[in-house]
Amino acid sequence: MNTEIYKITDPAADRAAVEAAAALLRRGEVVAIPTETVYGLAANAFDPAAVRKIFQAKGRPQDNPLIVHLAGAQELETVAKDIPEAARRLYARFSPGPLTVILPRKDTVPAEVSAGLSTVAVRIPSHPVANAVIKAAGVPLAAPSANLSGFPSPTGVQDVLDDMTGRVAAIVDGGESECGIESTVVSLAVSPPRLLRPGVITAEQLREILPDLVVDDAVLNPLKAGQTAASPGMKYKHYAPNAQIYIVRGGQKEFFRFLAAHPGEADTALVFEEDLPLCPVRAVAMGREAEPLSQTARLFSALRELDKLGAKTVFARAPVPTGVGLGVCNRLYRAAGFRFLNGGPKILGVCGQTGAGKSTVCDMLREFGLTIVDTDQIAREVVQPGSPVLPRLQTVFGADILLADGSLDRAKLASRAFASPETAAKLSAVTHPAIIAIAKSRAEEAKRQGKWAVIDAPLLFTAGMDTDCDFTLKVTAPEETRLKRIMARDHITEEEARKRIAVQGKEDRLSSHADHFVVNEDLAAVKTQIKAILTQSGYISE
Ligand code: TXA
Ligand code: MG
Repeated sequence: MNTEIYKITDPAADRAAVEAAAALLRRGEVVAIPTETVYGLAANAFDPAAVRKIFQAKGRPQDNPLIVHLAGAQELETVAKDIPEAARRLYARFSPGPLTVILPRKDTVPAEVSAGLSTVAVRIPSHPVANAVIKAAGVPLAAPSANLSGFPSPTGVQDVLDDMTGRVAAIVDGGESECGIESTVVSLAVSPPRLLRPGVITAEQLREILPDLVVDDAVLNPLKAGQTAASPGMKYKHYAPNAQIYIVRGGQKEFFRFLAAHPGEADTALVFEEDLPLCPVRAVAMGREAEPLSQTARLFSALRELDKLGAKTVFARAPVPTGVGLGVCNRLYRAAGFRFLNGGPKILGVCGQTGAGKSTVCDMLREFGLTIVDTDQIAREVVQPGSPVLPRLQTVFGADILLADGSLDRAKLASRAFASPETAAKLSAVTHPAIIAIAKSRAEEAKRQGKWAVIDAPLLFTAGMDTDCDFTLKVTAPEETRLKRIMARDHITEEEARKRIAVQGKEDRLSSHADHFVVNEDLAAVKTQIKAILTQSGYISE
């Protein structure tokens, strides 16, 4: 296939080129166009045959849906239905720009675009050339990133020429893409709203409009076996250079300490520009640490450079995964195949059988200088007046569980929530995600400040929080000791104490996989065990 190349610097001045690209699109051809995020491979979103050509050109699996690009928010109704108010506020605030919103799909959009899903991804790009081409074409354009499937998204026209020459009708050269990573994808087709792909528009910014936004697990973690991706694209292998990349946890200090402790192991370092003067090995920079937007702009080209250099083993730094850093980490962790080396502080998860003396152990860890994140304390915080959890509890248990002053009527909630195992499960379904999110963010914050953190959680394993910890510890004690302690603590009979132990069966079973166990009978012995665990994990040097 002959591929036309159109260079468009100013859509008004280069009107003929804009019209030529638009004419090809109207005729059902595929045209690569620049956008502010990355280049896209566009076709008429209403034309199933044209859309199928995109999948062919890209070599993309048919079950991975495309994003529909519009010229303006006034066109939303042409592709989506039942548009929630929140969507309008999102577009009003962030569009045109690098934001994609998943909405219920209108039947006008062929199933090919959405890979058969009942939803459609919609974005209004801000790039003047993209905008001019969509307007001139007069139809919404379905477009994935303009790379061959499995390769990095193209951020400059040369990348597109390399991948797509001969495969598409035309390529529009509109200069370098400003963002350098793909758009932020947020789904409003689920409740609460969910961030599926982080980008230059951050989770923090989105929360100003979507206070209950959750970040999908797949953003920073590999999909677990048997788990299905909320966004089909997340299950596909993303671009990973030929080199094995290892991310060294921690900040600059930990990185260089780690490099010095493992001489000759890495042939290349993937770092920030500020790190370059300190690097004892060949180094590639992915932007400046102090300027997250320079990282998104440089990330994909830095990864490509590793291949050009023939790098084999790379030790990499990673930004803190908040703000724009979340988008960088999302791509970088995948490029590294989720391989991490521990150069920095860690999170220790602590659980324990009731009456085993978990708090004694946590007090001791605090004395050793670790930051304790107490989930029981957080459980009390999330039902304080003003907490976003309260309205959700009202929805489930009735508006009258709040008193006139906005505080929680605990007795009323308890009588309703503990009426049956089903209602109790409903209570956990509302409170647990909030508690877990707060605990995680406090532990990560401590880590960021260079401190080791302890997540103290009675249901660490049942709640799945063990996977957020670098290592775990279970506090145990002989059953007779625990019975005595529970009876003394709660002033109850032995029979009641035995019941409390019995209800913890599930957690007890799951936590049998903890990394460490501390038997809590004698204080001096506990201290010795904790010292040994902290030494083994690198907190205390031998
Ligand atoms: O910045 C961007 O978004 C670029 C430019 C060209 O606009 N496009 C882009 O498209 O990155 P693509 O196809 O490479 O990535 C779209 C992502 C995929 O992970 C896909 O699975 C997801 O969005 N997606 C699309 N429609 C979806 C839907 N209805 N539900 C869930 N995820 C969807
Ligand atoms: Mg892509």
